[in-house]
Amino acid sequence: MSEVKIAPSIVSADLSRLADEVRACEAAGAQMIHIDIMDGQFVPAITIGAPIVEAIRRTTDLTLDVHLMVVEPEKQVERFIEAGGDIINVHWEAATHVHRIVREVQQRGRRAGVCLNPGTSEGVLDALLPDLDQVMVMAVNPGASGQPFIASVLSKVERLRKAIDEGGYRAEIEIDGGVTLDNAPRCVAAGTDVLVAASAVFNDRASIGDNIRSLQESVAALQA
Ligand code: DX5
Ligand code: ZN
Repeated sequence: MSEVKIAPSIVSADLSRLADEVRACEAAGAQMIHIDIMDGQFVPAITIGAPIVEAIRRTTDLTLDVHLMVVEPEKQVERFIEAGGDIINVHWEAATHVHRIVREVQQRGRRAGVCLNPGTSEGVLDALLPDLDQVMVMAVNPGASGQPFIASVLSKVERLRKAIDEGGYRAEIEIDGGVTLDNAPRCVAAGTDVLVAASAVFNDRASIGDNIRSLQESVAALQA
């Protein structure tokens, strides 16, 4: 198994010091920065938009993993590509022509991901899986950080892992929501490649760096 990647979600960062927070993630060895875009329609909350992605792009060379929790994502992807997103993830539940969006993202030289809500079966991706760069399995219902992990999604991760490995596909599996030191090993054992974490990185009493290193250590034994 290749090294598990940690993707701190800046939704829980101190936005008044965003550049410092991103640099702290980078210094601690995070491989990606996860950026939650909420539009007040697909989910009730509104977070940030493309100008902030652009600002983060100027701060770091880490992979920017853009999670679009928006309705009609086809109208937004180009903006976030322009802003510097490396992986553009759209929700299967929000996209009518999801295959077209995936193609458009890839034709622009970026990686394309599809996100599945906890209530959505991985079976909906059967026809898409060969073409995806990432599958994001939501372990909370999208809309807020700090929610408890829904453990039943682990069997979905296992089934996706099997389908990707047996098919020889390139898609990486990312798990998003409720990831903690306690459940990170179970996520990785089920076949997760990327762990997204907001609260576990930014809200604990330890420093950002210590929290990221603890997450890495919690799964290190599983990668040996
Ligand atoms: C949920 C977001 C997640 C979330 C992660 O809607 O997509 O990225 O904020 O937060 P934690 O890690 O606190 O569950
Ligand atoms: Zn997210």
